[in-house]
Amino acid sequence: MVRMTSAVDPPSIERAVTILRGGGLVAFPTETVYGLGADAANAAAVRHLFAVKGRPPDHPVIVHGGDASILDRWGRDVPALAGSLAERCWPGPLTIVVRRAAHVLDDVTGGLDSVGVRVPDQPIALALLQSFGDGVAAPSANRYGRVSPTSAEDVRRDLGDDVDLVLDGGPCAVGVESTIVDCTTDDVVILRPGGVTRERIEEIVGRPVRERRAGDQRAPGSTASHYAPRARVELVVVDALATRAKSLVDASRSVGVLAMAPLAPLPEGVVALDAPADVESFARVLYARLRAADARELDVLLVVPPPAVGIGIAVGDRLRRAARGEPEDDA
Ligand code: TXA
Ligand code: MG
Repeated sequence: MVRMTSAVDPPSIERAVTILRGGGLVAFPTETVYGLGADAANAAAVRHLFAVKGRPPDHPVIVHGGDASILDRWGRDVPALAGSLAERCWPGPLTIVVRRAAHVLDDVTGGLDSVGVRVPDQPIALALLQSFGDGVAAPSANRYGRVSPTSAEDVRRDLGDDVDLVLDGGPCAVGVESTIVDCTTDDVVILRPGGVTRERIEEIVGRPVRERRAGDQRAPGSTASHYAPRARVELVVVDALATRAKSLVDASRSVGVLAMAPLAPLPEGVVALDAPADVESFARVLYARLRAADARELDVLLVVPPPAVGIGIAVGDRLRRAARGEPEDDA
């Protein structure tokens, strides 16, 4: 993983903590995407967070903490395997869903009896969470249905003055949201693929782990809605790229391409977005490229998905949702 340098500025952290304690909203960088944070123990603050995001109230939100004690403080009957996952993967891009402690607000869980918790691996996030000292509810810092932000600029453009403070940590190192693993039953299930692979989780818990199947119940409210970018995303195999691009250009569509280098020559007029060199950089730039497709007013973005290994599985998942017109998760 490429480490982005982002300096922790103590006065900004102090300001951010004051805002959170006062019920305000602070956007902060994590290693995955930027989060929009509110005091998870303050119902009014969490409701305000949902209002700003434009997200339906029955969607659960992840509680972020500065160390692994978040698991026992916000969860109950935490199984040993959840503790092992926390110990081995935190700080890091893994959200662990456990039964919720009695004090956890319905506003945070969307009324579920479980709660998702995570310790992010980002110095500014950790400084903020450790100074705040308790749980910070934080969905991705985008309006509902939009692409997740991977820079402070993305957050400002999307949320404007509705956020009290944006902590700038530069571009996110991972670029797609955390892996979510449900540990509420004996059957450990990956609800969303992300930076921590299934193989790694299986190695830690010492048993097979399955991915959510098409027919499985999803978290309430996480059904499909519209998806930005405005540009239609089409997934293509590399050999079909030039032919498909040509037929779209012939039909007067403005067409862009996102694929790992090297590419065969493309028909004239096709916009080749800067190509990621490997699967990790594909994940890191994915959301920025989707935004770029809109900034360039493309009608169609042709994407050759990266190989389905490591973080490539999460990239493929988000791309398939984008191509189907669903949010990247429930946005
Ligand atoms: O990487 C990330 O996870 C980022 C950063 C900011 O930490 N956060 C993020 O949050 O992606 P959000 O709200 O955009 O997505 C949270 C996902 C949703 O799909 C939600 O349904 C699921 O987590 N989730 C949260 N609590 C849950 C629970 N108790 N049970 C099942 N799913 C849950
Ligand atoms: Mg989101």
